[in-house]
Amino acid sequence: MTEQPTGEAAPGVAASARDLIKVYGKGEAEVRALDGVTVDLMKGEFTAIMGPSGSGKSTLMHCLAALDTPTSGEAVVDGTSLGRLKDKDLTTLRRERVGFVFQSFNLVPTLSAEENILLPLSLAGRKPDREWFDQVVDAVGLRPRLGHRPSEMSGGQQQRVACARALVSQPSIVFADEPTGNLDSTSSAEVLGFLRRSVDEFGQTVVMVTHDPVAASYTDRVLFLADGVIVDELRTPDRDHILAKMAALQDAAIKKAAS
Ligand SMILES: Nc1ncnc2c1ncn2[C@@H]1O[C@H](COP(=O)(O)OP(=O)(O)OP(=O)(O)O)[C@@H](O)[C@H]1O
Ligand SMILES: [Mg+2]
Repeated sequence: MTEQPTGEAAPGVAASARDLIKVYGKGEAEVRALDGVTVDLMKGEFTAIMGPSGSGKSTLMHCLAALDTPTSGEAVVDGTSLGRLKDKDLTTLRRERVGFVFQSFNLVPTLSAEENILLPLSLAGRKPDREWFDQVVDAVGLRPRLGHRPSEMSGGQQQRVACARALVSQPSIVFADEPTGNLDSTSSAEVLGFLRRSVDEFGQTVVMVTHDPVAASYTDRVLFLADGVIVDELRTPDRDHILAKMAALQDAAIKKAAS
């Protein structure tokens, strides 16, 4: 058994998938985007999901984040089984217990950075915890930009606003779908460094889809998806091990296609 970090309770499960199946379309057009995924995502961990285009990464994330409903199986967030919730309760869960970071930032163009960060709390009618807001803003280094609109910020700065927005409501889990997909390497490193710190310093749980082995090397665990199933995983990954696994999975896919 691996040793837990000192002073931390043994980490529990933040979210899990139980035999998740997601089928899109019917008949000839049927696509099994998820074909029986079972996995526990641990609290206080940074997990990456990798795999070829179309392997089901976004679908898995959307089912776990209550943005999509599985065809069968169970998605559990923070001990709550999503399938048992009414629409209203799903909306509340998404708003209060889940944070999102998207590839395309998804900021409101007419709002300042500060207003964007506070938007989820405003929508939920909650008062911001000013101390926490300050901590998050300083961690992403956005203090001098708080009054700026998205159009007045670089892509990296916009994504840091999006990260702060995801964290400000202190969600049980943050889902990030290719958060560095539109960023140059310097901005990517800033965003990834922040997500890493949010795990190490704030105990946040983060799950990130990425195609980039360097991005995945910031995480504690990489899950590899292929054709809607988890085919492999790596703990304490580094870039070279990730590249080796990706190559092995590609070989296996080529052999499978040829047989
Ligand atoms: N709304 C939809 N309707 C029909 N098919 C869909 C829908 N969403 C996804 N799919 C299909 O499900 C499969 C998995 O899609 P998904 O978006 O989860 O892949 P992904 O691993 O995130 O890919 P990428 O790396 O390109 O983002 C794909 O074959 C895709 O075409
Ligand atoms: Mg995707």
